[in-house]
Amino acid sequence: MRVALVGTGNIARIHAEALRGLGGRAEIVAGVDVDGAAAKSFCRTHGIPHSGTDLARVLDTTRPDLVHVCTPPGAHLEAARTALAYGAHVLVEKPPTLTLRQFAELEAAADHSGRHVATVFQHRFGSGARRLRALHDAGVLGRPLLAICHTTWYRTQEYFDVPWRGRWDTEGGGPTMGHGIHQMDLLLAILGEWTQVHALARRQARDVDTEDLSLAHVGFANGCVASVVNSVLSPREQSYLRFDFARATIELTHLYGYGEDAWRVTPAPGHEEAVLSAWHGGERGVPSGHQAQFAAVLDALEAGARPPVTLAETRRTMRLVAAIYAASFTGSPVGPGDLGPGSPFHERMQGGGPPWRLVARQEVA
Ligand SMILES: NC(=O)c1ccc[n+]([C@@H]2O[C@H](COP(=O)([O-])OP(=O)(O)OC[C@H]3O[C@@H](n4cnc5c(N)ncnc54)[C@H](O)[C@@H]3O)[C@@H](O)[C@H]2O)c1
Repeated sequence: MRVALVGTGNIARIHAEALRGLGGRAEIVAGVDVDGAAAKSFCRTHGIPHSGTDLARVLDTTRPDLVHVCTPPGAHLEAARTALAYGAHVLVEKPPTLTLRQFAELEAAADHSGRHVATVFQHRFGSGARRLRALHDAGVLGRPLLAICHTTWYRTQEYFDVPWRGRWDTEGGGPTMGHGIHQMDLLLAILGEWTQVHALARRQARDVDTEDLSLAHVGFANGCVASVVNSVLSPREQSYLRFDFARATIELTHLYGYGEDAWRVTPAPGHEEAVLSAWHGGERGVPSGHQAQFAAVLDALEAGARPPVTLAETRRTMRLVAAIYAASFTGSPVGPGDLGPGSPFHERMQGGGPPWRLVARQEVA
């Protein structure tokens, strides 16, 4: 598989190393960045033969099968469109677009091109998450009743010095869109369709345009309910997911990725044997991360199948993000049907704007 990377900043390095770790299954043929010096230096470091600043021109010359979009979020849609127009499949970093409207445009471009677009949500691909999903699908764990999905991270004010961070028009949102989205996507990968969201978002301590924390209660079609917290204000950082099924509690405690030892299983009385033998008998040993997802993407593309995470699944996650903003800023519960074209939250994640938009920056510093 011939791969081009567009955007050669921080996450592109993880992409290049993860692709190299796949042992020859993928060849990186080009690195593209609006900053020509950055592209050149990146390509030199990673032994990539072709660098450039103009994506279309580079694609025309190198004709990759797959383009990884690693630019800041505001440039994802345009880069993906260009790649699709040149007949490449696309793997786009999270968040795939800034708004639901842009996301619909991305889906239309993918449909029109006949190529696939997948989103990077690497937490789905560790063997622990895959095992959990398999056990749940097989009915081993019983009905999901309650879930906790807390992404409590810490980012200093300096983190937001990068010009595209902390702004609705370039990042699409704060920790709900940019940080907690990984765990919320994994929550949805296990629990399926969400039906209702109640939420609060606040700009509590950082000098940013977006929220710096959000809290939500989410209801699911299967009857489960979840507590969701997304924060960049939490000095003791943690990523925590907990599922209380009728027959077991399954917990995942980590920070930016997990291995086997991050999982804890507590069977309900009377279900010890069935739960533990199924849990210990499942797939094991693969940590979460870009490399695990890239392997799954290549497996699918080589088999002519739709690579994970599909646009349909990503749409559900993006709608949950939009619903948290909509419920927070309108003060009313929100369902997936409330977010179609015509809703201000379809046009922009912040809809008509958060309640703090008129607050002077000094007041929050
Ligand atoms: N999956 C994860 O865990 C994870 C982690 C960090 C970042 N990300 C995502 O990766 C993306 C990039 O983040 P980053 O931290 O690498 O950012 P970065 O600022 O370090 O790098 C972005 C690069 O893209 C370049 N660029 C900007 N506009 C461009 C355009 N139109 N065409 C080509 N190049 C362009 C910039 O010059 C820069 O070199 C974001 O969407 C971010 O949310 C994902």
